[in-house]
Amino acid sequence: MKYYIHTYGCQMNVHDSEKIAGILEELNYSSCDDVKDADVVVFNTCCIRETSEKKIYGHIGQLKKLKKAKKDMIIVVCGCMSQQDGVPAKIRESFPYVDIILGTSNLGELKSAILDAKHKRKYTNTNFCIYQEEEFNQLRTSYPNAWVNINYGCNNFCTYCIVPYVRGRERSREMSAIVKEVEQLVSDGYKEITLLGQNVNSYGKDLQNGENFAQLLHQLGKIPGKFRLRFMTSHPKDLSEEVIDAVAMYPNICNNIHLPVQSGSTEILRRMNRRYTREKYIDCINMIKSKLPDVGITTDIMIGFPGETEQDFLDTLDLVERAKYSSAFCFVYSRRKGTPADTMPDQIPDDVKKDRITRLIATQNKVTREISKQMTGKVYEILVEGTNPKYDGVVCGRTESGRLVNFKGDETLIGKFVNVKIEKSASATLWGSITTEEK
Ligand code: 5AD
Ligand code: SF4
Repeated sequence: MKYYIHTYGCQMNVHDSEKIAGILEELNYSSCDDVKDADVVVFNTCCIRETSEKKIYGHIGQLKKLKKAKKDMIIVVCGCMSQQDGVPAKIRESFPYVDIILGTSNLGELKSAILDAKHKRKYTNTNFCIYQEEEFNQLRTSYPNAWVNINYGCNNFCTYCIVPYVRGRERSREMSAIVKEVEQLVSDGYKEITLLGQNVNSYGKDLQNGENFAQLLHQLGKIPGKFRLRFMTSHPKDLSEEVIDAVAMYPNICNNIHLPVQSGSTEILRRMNRRYTREKYIDCINMIKSKLPDVGITTDIMIGFPGETEQDFLDTLDLVERAKYSSAFCFVYSRRKGTPADTMPDQIPDDVKKDRITRLIATQNKVTREISKQMTGKVYEILVEGTNPKYDGVVCGRTESGRLVNFKGDETLIGKFVNVKIEKSASATLWGSITTEEK
């Protein structure tokens, strides 16, 4: 008996899929790479932009034929898309062969739902419920990295974003539970721990015992052993100096901050309900750079928010040049039903969006190339993550600041720290070779 999981979207979903895989393994299913071989098919969905949703509906549609040929196949749709108002009903109507629909907090019900589905009983539940991480025997799939949830949900309600509606209000895990999980992962041999939360900086605000994210970093930074600690995502309005001081204090905590800016225009930021100004954001970047000289700062940027003028956009380009991001995820604004921005006037036409995204990507590429040039000839410590699927005999890994580097090697290096001298760069990708020189 085989299962096939297709994960859409962000790392939060990737980690949820590890929980789903754990449940299916407990039911004696084993994983397979081809959907045609699967007895259970899981689509762990995303709805952050319309493009993701369209793709997923297309993929669910393609299962119709398979299910016809294989009547006992169990089809599960879960994650953010199925949590949206009206979506379960739409799936039931358009794709009646789907067996199980679960919301973002209902993974604990997957086991009983699968057992029901074997008796041809369908199951739908997207009501929010509280679950404990410890309920799941996760099947981790990202060695040498391990994902660790620290808080769930989001209270920020940025006016373009669907996440607060589909992931619910902020809930933080107990600090002692997180510390215990990380200690266990380090002793199990994981070399990189990535803390996950929609807004890690608001960790603890709901706990009422005064614990906060900086304190969590102090606890985790003290864990002995050679490993790297990363965290994402930081919200500029909540990122404190204490957090950056903790990053500076512990060698295990990576000098790598993901700090989504979204826009470089104060007026657009106000309408996005981001609760910081362009100037405040630049102050934040300067504070980080002064305390962490070798930091890699990455970001998310959106163009085409309703009412975005050419001048607003130029302010974004200017900020990209000043911030010198090591990389940026660039998005075209996508209207999401139920969010305030969807009904704002002055939606931006597609051709303008297309022009702006092209210019934004070109500007960031220029910045990335400049940084790559500065890195060439220098030695960096790299944690080897895996073999490069495109080239034989090539492995890849990251610098502490988060840049991806390719170099000659084989799979015996995976999970090892090696020093690599950067020799050349091809756009965002760096190439180098292993050296005995110290960094
Ligand atoms: N359209 C386009 N991009 C979006 N993001 C969030 N909502 C939308 C939307 N409606 C982007 C933001 C966020 C990242 C995870 O996705 O940049 O930081
Ligand atoms: Fe969405 Fe804003 Fe929350 Fe991020 S902080 S998940 S962009 S609402």
